[in-house]
Amino acid sequence: MAASLALALIALLSAAISATNITEILSGYPEYSEFNDLLTKTKLADEINSREPVTVCALPNGALSSVTSKHPLSVVKNVLALHVLLDYFDGPKLHKISEGSVLSTTLYQTTGNAAGQLGFVNITDVKGGKVAFGSGLPGSPLDSTFTKSVKQFPYNLSVIEISQAIAPAAVLSAAAPSDLNITALLEKAGCKTFASLIVSTGVVKVYASAAGKGLTVFAPNDEAFKAADAPDLTKLTNAEVVSLLQYHALAAYSPVGTLKQTKGRISTLATNGAGKYDLGVKTAGDSVSLVTGVDDSRIASTVIDSTPLCIFTVDSLLLPVELFGKAPSPAPGPAPETSPSPSPAEAPTPASSPEPASAPSPFKSPPAPPTNSPDGAPSEGPTADSKNSSSDNSGASFEAPPAVVKVLLTVAFLVFGCILTS
Ligand SMILES: *[C@@H]1O[C@H](CO)[C@@H](O)[C@H](O)[C@H]1NC(C)=O
Ligand SMILES: *[C@@H]1O[C@H](CO)[C@@H](O)[C@H](O)[C@H]1NC(C)=O
Ligand SMILES: *[C@@H]1O[C@H](CO)[C@@H](O)[C@H](O)[C@H]1NC(C)=O
Ligand SMILES: *[C@@H]1O[C@H](CO)[C@@H](O)[C@H](O)[C@H]1NC(C)=O
Ligand SMILES: *[C@@H]1O[C@H](CO)[C@@H](O)[C@H](O)[C@H]1NC(C)=O
Repeated sequence: MAASLALALIALLSAAISATNITEILSGYPEYSEFNDLLTKTKLADEINSREPVTVCALPNGALSSVTSKHPLSVVKNVLALHVLLDYFDGPKLHKISEGSVLSTTLYQTTGNAAGQLGFVNITDVKGGKVAFGSGLPGSPLDSTFTKSVKQFPYNLSVIEISQAIAPAAVLSAAAPSDLNITALLEKAGCKTFASLIVSTGVVKVYASAAGKGLTVFAPNDEAFKAADAPDLTKLTNAEVVSLLQYHALAAYSPVGTLKQTKGRISTLATNGAGKYDLGVKTAGDSVSLVTGVDDSRIASTVIDSTPLCIFTVDSLLLPVELFGKAPSPAPGPAPETSPSPSPAEAPTPASSPEPASAPSPFKSPPAPPTNSPDGAPSEGPTADSKNSSSDNSGASFEAPPAVVKVLLTVAFLVFGCILTS
């Protein structure tokens, strides 16, 4: 009795601490170890952990071998995403499906790649007390069956076992990411300026060589380059433009779910011995923003999410502290100019660059004043005009410091409390 109480307590505590971690839950069931490994490799685990309610339809070891042996990881991910239902189903609920049949939305539906009802799973209570699963595409076979409940956290997360994979042909036949043309994808997504910049600087080659192992791109859309507070790229040296463009990508596959779980700063392709060029991630509900230290940039849309490649659009340029702001710690060294990041190499090859159509103008222009203001940090004080400084050139765009917000909140809370108690 005491033991089971203690167990219940531990279960409660761990649920509270980790807000459920699918990897950890499944690790208690060796019969799903392959399924669990794939959730980690495809980063679906992060996606599952950041959502509720969710039902994970686990597959016993071996059930996915026909899929994993013949298809790239990007396709395996899509198949697995069909096994994550965005609703809560446990044994009793499955046996009480109204009208005997229901279509449930899956994580695959959220990728935007699912045509028609491909992103849905059909759950049907068939005769004889069995519950059958199949693709939501009309006419699909319902050849997988519910075998048992594995673990439930009502009504947020349920893990159940089904007998075999739901793998419709239309999902299996998707193109592998190696066939994708990054520039063309960017152009189509309304990021023509960014696309032409990465081509004319040669950075696209750096992207392409990273894309095999893992690449996430945050592409500012064309409006972002036209914004009033957009930086003047002609004031940057070539090396700085290259760093700026590399700053807009990570050498890792980081879909939204993974970004949401990110704690601390993450390195970018621009990160090197001469500069951190790192990013933080801020999440508010479904909205995800990248925090550079100079400003925040909201992720506006997903252009493609296909392991190991992920491309997002962002609605403003990511401005690294190294180029546009003052690092809080006084940089001891001299001008940052002198460090033309080691080897973006690959040489621009201006010859081959086609005339950059909508020309963001030649950033050939000479050095120009380093944006890192030379002499001793002015305006370190956040006060006064900090409100609307994002577009002014003093560069000191301090956002309302969290402490101030906190104080304001506290004051508001106190006032509210007084009203209540009076
Ligand atoms: C989930 O659990 C796994 C295995 O215990 C661990 O490696 C991972 O860091 C955890 N994830 C989170 C977000 O806590
Ligand atoms: C589920 O599939 C069965 C068999 O194809 C079909 O009769 C039923 O209408 C489907 N259910 C829903 C909700 O579409
Ligand atoms: C379920 O989610 C709600 C809302 O986020 C949370 O308050 C509750 O603690 C969760 N329950 C469990 C068992 O994780
Ligand atoms: C990729 O697309 C761009 C623009 O649409 C095109 O110029 C380029 O030739 C394509 N590259 C390949 C390898 O197909
Ligand atoms: C800040 O600047 C924007 C555009 O530059 C303007 O629309 C807005 O009214 C300004 N806000 C304040 C508080 O001055």
